[in-house]
Amino acid sequence: MFLGARSTQAEYFDAERPPEELSAFFRALARVNRLFAFTEPFQRFLPQLLDNCGGCRSLSILDLGAGDGSLGRTLSAWASRQHWEWRITNLDVSLAALRLNPAGQNVAGSALAMPFRESSFDVVVVSQMTHHLADDLAREHLREAWRVARRGILLSDLHRNLLLYATLWLLCGLSRSGQTFRNDALLSVKRGWRVPELQQLAAQAGIPQAEVKLYFGARILLLASKQK
Ligand SMILES: C[S@@+](CC[C@H](N)C(=O)[O-])C[C@H]1O[C@@H](n2cnc3c(N)ncnc32)[C@H](O)[C@@H]1O
Repeated sequence: MFLGARSTQAEYFDAERPPEELSAFFRALARVNRLFAFTEPFQRFLPQLLDNCGGCRSLSILDLGAGDGSLGRTLSAWASRQHWEWRITNLDVSLAALRLNPAGQNVAGSALAMPFRESSFDVVVVSQMTHHLADDLAREHLREAWRVARRGILLSDLHRNLLLYATLWLLCGLSRSGQTFRNDALLSVKRGWRVPELQQLAAQAGIPQAEVKLYFGARILLLASKQK
């Protein structure tokens, strides 16, 4: 059945691509991200994860699969408007993607085996990265994220459903973002998650009481706190 099971097909940008193609990809992604308000779940739920939000004033945050670092830039600017200091470390397996954010605190490496000690960061955030991984690797990535987080993790990814698929098909066509971007965007939905699947992976990764939920029909969120 269409979208019944996760696709295992690799996306075009899962392989290394020339820098100019990669920057065009991130420009197109930024347009779609803005339309879908991709930072909003983090602004809404990080304070909730951190007990509304006594502990928000000063945070170290690790962003996994950070790409060009746009999530971290937006979050730290937003936090500073609340008079909070959020220090972001961007980790990505693609050095070329990190180079699009030369001013950031960047670490090139895989989210599957990170060069950090346990509890190195207050919070670990992940946006639209987990669907790039097959189930067994996604389990390792969740285990690693949980290991290096001191207070909790918040993950946002694509939910695998027909409405989101159709919306992206239409939007990418209208915005003329290019056939390669459109193919990857649609494939991302096919590689996305359903709530029971991510719940099961979190349990298998040893994350107790992870809350997994569908968010506005498009996103799937995983929230887990070490403080409870
Ligand atoms: C779709 S982009 C998402 C970028 C950004 N987080 C966002 O939400 O706009 C996925 C990113 O995950 C990175 N990525 C994929 N597999 C990874 C891995 N195993 N470890 C670290 N980063 C990975 C890719 O290089 C890419 O930059």
